[in-house]
Amino acid sequence: MSHISGVKKLTHSSSLTSAALPRFGVKTEQEDALARELNDLNKWGLNIFHVAEYSNSRPLSCIMFAIFQERDLLKTFRIPVDTFITYVMTLEDHYHANVAYHNSLHAADVTQSTHVLLSTPALDAVFTDLEILAALFAAAIHDVDHPGVSNQFLINTNSELALMYNDESVLENHHLAVGFKLLHEENCDIFQNLTKRQRQSLRKLVIDMVLATDMSKHMSLLADLKTMVETKKVTSSGVLMLDHYNDRIQVLRNMVHCADLSNPTKPLAVYRQWTERIMEEFFRQGDKERERGMEISPMCDKHTASVEKSQVGFIDYIVHPLWETWGDLVHPDAQEILDTLEDNRDWYQSTIPQSPSPPPDAPHNELESKFQFELTLEGETGQDGDPSHNHIDSHGQEAKREDEEADEWVPPPLTLYPGVLPVQDGHVPF
Ligand code: CMP
Ligand code: MG
Ligand code: ZN
Repeated sequence: MSHISGVKKLTHSSSLTSAALPRFGVKTEQEDALARELNDLNKWGLNIFHVAEYSNSRPLSCIMFAIFQERDLLKTFRIPVDTFITYVMTLEDHYHANVAYHNSLHAADVTQSTHVLLSTPALDAVFTDLEILAALFAAAIHDVDHPGVSNQFLINTNSELALMYNDESVLENHHLAVGFKLLHEENCDIFQNLTKRQRQSLRKLVIDMVLATDMSKHMSLLADLKTMVETKKVTSSGVLMLDHYNDRIQVLRNMVHCADLSNPTKPLAVYRQWTERIMEEFFRQGDKERERGMEISPMCDKHTASVEKSQVGFIDYIVHPLWETWGDLVHPDAQEILDTLEDNRDWYQSTIPQSPSPPPDAPHNELESKFQFELTLEGETGQDGDPSHNHIDSHGQEAKREDEEADEWVPPPLTLYPGVLPVQDGHVPF
């Protein structure tokens, strides 16, 4: 327990002198192609797969370098360039290249998506440089040393990590510990020239944002965001008024969470590559569960899973409700993103193979044929009582019994949802 597992001894500093500094921070034979791709640095449409290809498989180091240059953060926080590169390369090396989805490409994607969201017009000049630095750093470290299995798997297999963090946000606590610990490696302290107060406040912000990427916090995050949207105030130029720290950190934690859940909002060709990767990772977890005689998590059984239905369900129950609310917050900035999300949803829906129609007298339960999530309501149950459950429909609305009025969705109280669970036994792999 006296050390953080997963922190490897690696050094990059020996090869770095400012004279030999590559244009984009990474050695590559394809600098021109990389330069062309990085023209889209500030756009939602940047293709991070191309960045990986042209940067010698160093998408995280490359995108961090480009973003920090673009935002002049090295100057603002007096970060020595060799220290910066040494840290980001070391960080990138602590993502597992052999994990299909949660590798440094996903971190690079979330970082670049956060960079774009930070510049949304409705948030113009809202955040301080330190908050921007914290958001980008949080995105970069948010899945570091991910083993390719879910929190629930780590808990169920009595892993060292679950033991270390008492089953609470096991992975997210670990990502933070590794991300911060790596600053102590040789020539890695990118925050060396920040004041003590700046370091403290950055650390608090980063911890808040990364812990909020735990999917079991998703529903309460969304509920709070809906409350914020209902009470939002904007200036005459349409910029959000976020005078208090709590409001700003709330927007930031939702922003990184949106970036983390942004695959289905990207151009279809890019989104489909992410789907392939996440399904490969889920299926490998399913294989491990099968080998150990465990119950196989939903979406993780390669013999029965429907990739297309999983994506439609993921969008309907999780991604669309979140992005729709983000869209309300920054209206109308996210309109194009929402349009792409809806088109992509319809595309996946249209690829679902049609099952033969049931015999005419068979009872048809529409809910059963849908990909369903169930929310366990923490506040309404005793420790020993049965959890009460709410079904959430495709727009984040509580599904009503047929005889009930379809009322406005009321944001549930804080900390109501400990997790997003499927209707079947077992857990979704996040
Ligand atoms: P993580 O990146 O740690 O946090 C967000 C989670 O959402 C992610 O892990 C996955 O478990 C899940 N997720 C992200 N994208 C998809 C997707 N396209 N399909 C299914 N699940 C996803
Ligand atoms: Mg994560
Ligand atoms: Zn992630």
